[in-house]
Amino acid sequence: MDKKIKIGLIGLGTVGSGVFKTLKNFDNIEIVKIAVKNINKPRNIEGLDASLLTADPYEIVNNPEIDIIAELIGRLNPAFDLIAKAIENGKHIVTANKELLAKRGEELFRIAEKYNKVILYEAAIAGGIPIIMPIKTILAGNKINHIEAIVNGTTNYILTKMDVEGAQYSDVLKEAQKLGYAEADPTGDVEGFDAAYKIATLASITFNKRINIENVYREGITKIRAEDMKAANDLGYKIKLIASAYLNTNGQADVRVHPMLVSKKSTLAHIDYVTNAVSLSGYPVGSITLSGPGAGEFPTASSVVGDILAIAAELKISDYILPMMRCRHSENAVMTDISETTNKYYISINAKNNKGVIGKIGTICADNDISLASIVQRCVSDDNTADITVITELVQEKNMQNAIKLIEQDGNKVNSLIRVQVQK
Ligand code: HSE
Repeated sequence: MDKKIKIGLIGLGTVGSGVFKTLKNFDNIEIVKIAVKNINKPRNIEGLDASLLTADPYEIVNNPEIDIIAELIGRLNPAFDLIAKAIENGKHIVTANKELLAKRGEELFRIAEKYNKVILYEAAIAGGIPIIMPIKTILAGNKINHIEAIVNGTTNYILTKMDVEGAQYSDVLKEAQKLGYAEADPTGDVEGFDAAYKIATLASITFNKRINIENVYREGITKIRAEDMKAANDLGYKIKLIASAYLNTNGQADVRVHPMLVSKKSTLAHIDYVTNAVSLSGYPVGSITLSGPGAGEFPTASSVVGDILAIAAELKISDYILPMMRCRHSENAVMTDISETTNKYYISINAKNNKGVIGKIGTICADNDISLASIVQRCVSDDNTADITVITELVQEKNMQNAIKLIEQDGNKVNSLIRVQVQK
C-alpha cells in the first residue's frame, strides 16, 4: 500500500470537526495530531481518539512526520506564527482563515515560495463553493475583469428576512442571534469586514495582483431600513450586500463591499438566506455564477478536504506541487478610490412637503452633473414631510456626495444612499 499522507489539524471547532469526520473515510490520509484549546472539553465525535489531541499547536508545527497542516482556528494570532513556522518546517498549508489571508497573505505566500510549499484556501472565500481552484486551473485561460458576489451568509440571511417579513434590521438581527445565524458580536459580518477579506483575496487571484485590504471600500448593512426594502421592491430590485471587484481598462482595480440594489431579474437577486454566490464575467467563457452553502461544518469541510487531497495527490508524485496551485503574482494592484468611481444610486429623502421641493432637489442634482432616472414622492406624513425616492443615472461618486450635502443643507434628511447594480 502507498505511504499515507500525514495531516495535522489546528482547531477542532465546527469546521475542524467536519474535516475530521470527512477525512476519516480516506485510506491514504492519516490524521496524526489535532491541536485544541481545551483538551478536556467533552466532544461527541465518533472515532476521535483522545490521544490525538494536544493543547500545544507547536507539537503539530514541529512534528517532522506531518506533511500537511490544516489551520482552522481563524484570526491573525497565533495563526500567522503557526503557519509561518510550519512552512519553514516543510509543511504544506490548508487554511480557511480569510482575515489572515487578506491582511498578511503576502508575507505568508512569500515564505511559502521560499520554502517551495503551497498554501491552499478554498474554504476561506465562500465556504463550500469551489471558486479559487476553478479560477486557478480550468478558468486560467480567461481574462476575468468583473466579479459580483454574495459571500456573507449572515447578512444575506438578515436582508432576506427583512425583505420577506418587512421587518426592521435590529429586530431581524436579534432573531438571527437567537437562532445562531449571527454572532453575539455581529460586527465582523454586518459591517462587511468578513466580505471585504473574502473579496480582497478573491480579487487577488482573479486579477493576478495583490489587493491591499486597506484600499477595499467597505460599508455594512446596519443602515438599511425596511422602508428601503419596500421601495426597492416597488422599483424592481432586491437589496443585497454585494462584494465586488472590477478591473478597468487601465488595469486599476475597484474592490468594494456595500449594499446594492440588484435587479430582480439578476441571478444574485435570487440568492436568499445563508446561501452564497459568486458571479464572474470572463473572456472567453462569458458569465458564470456559482452558488451554494457559504459556511457550516460540512460545506466548509468539503473545501478544506478538497485542498488536502489535491496536495496529497501531488505529494505522491513529487515534492514540487503543481505550479497552478501556487501564488503566481507579486505586483500590487493600483486601486481606484471610491470617490473616483461612477455608480447609479438609490436615494431616500425625507423632505418638508413644501411647493417646489422636488424641483429644488432636481436642480441640486443637475448642478452636480447628476441625471435622474426616476423621482417618486411616496407619501405625506402627519408631520407634513414627504418621502422622496430617487434613482440616478450613472454619476460620479464625488458629485453624488456633494449633492447629498447640499440636499441636507436645504433642510431635508437623506435617510439612505444605496448604490444600484449596473449591468456591465
Ligand atoms: N460569518 C460568515 C458568514 C461565515 O456569515 O458567511 C464564515 O466566513
